[in-house]
Amino acid sequence: MTVYGVGLGPGEPDLLTLRGKRTLEAADVVYSPGRLSRTVATHHVPDSRIGDLDFPMTSDPEKLRAAWRDAAAEVAPRARDGDVAFATLGDPNVYSTFGHLRRTLDAFHPDIDVQTVPGVSAVSAFTTALGVEVDAGAGLALREAAQGASPTGPDRMILFKVTDAPATHEGLVDAGYDVTYGRRLYMEQGDTTVTRDPAEIADRDYYTLAYAERDTLQKDRATAFDDTEVAGDA
Ligand SMILES: C[S@@+](CC[C@H](N)C(=O)[O-])C[C@H]1O[C@@H](n2cnc3c(N)ncnc32)[C@H](O)[C@@H]1O
Repeated sequence: MTVYGVGLGPGEPDLLTLRGKRTLEAADVVYSPGRLSRTVATHHVPDSRIGDLDFPMTSDPEKLRAAWRDAAAEVAPRARDGDVAFATLGDPNVYSTFGHLRRTLDAFHPDIDVQTVPGVSAVSAFTTALGVEVDAGAGLALREAAQGASPTGPDRMILFKVTDAPATHEGLVDAGYDVTYGRRLYMEQGDTTVTRDPAEIADRDYYTLAYAERDTLQKDRATAFDDTEVAGDA
């Protein structure tokens, strides 16, 4: 049988894919690693089929490795008897805890079949929420901006874990970026905010991302726009 990593989407229950929903409904047990993802999962499966996995709030690599070994040891026997789902917000293969579980299962329980059901990631949801068009050929880098960090370099970046927006903003503006922030996009819990003012989201909220674009970036004009006409008119 199989362990399915299921992407729940950004938070609103109707942004789960049909395949994700079918997989959750058919699983014998559904594990979900956080309070919010568990709330989304319980829209689709009864509490009685939600399993418990404990994860310590630590960045100590040894404690984390031990926690993932324990999680894999809990999940593997359940997957030998039936189907297991591990449901995470967004997509399970984008900056997600599911990667730790998959690698640990591969290393310690290689007989277990592991598959993924993709989900709507914050990486794709932000475009609609923030009104950004990612056109063909645009290089878009994913970075982390926890604790006020301001990563720079690429022309366009999505920054995850923006936990101190004013500090992150200062570094980005100094480096020549325009920045838009999105908090709790397509989530049921809490208020959605889209803003260019970091003071509006100065309090810490893990579910905050930013889109940063170099202010010198050339924007494409309308496809129907004729350069020669303009040159002639000028
Ligand atoms: C560890 S990453 C998980 C990404 C997830 N696997 C995905 O595909 O969207 C967590 C970060 O993603 C961003 N994020 C995830 N969901 C979000 C949402 N609904 N609204 C705003 N930011 C979100 C936040 O920056 C958060 O700190």
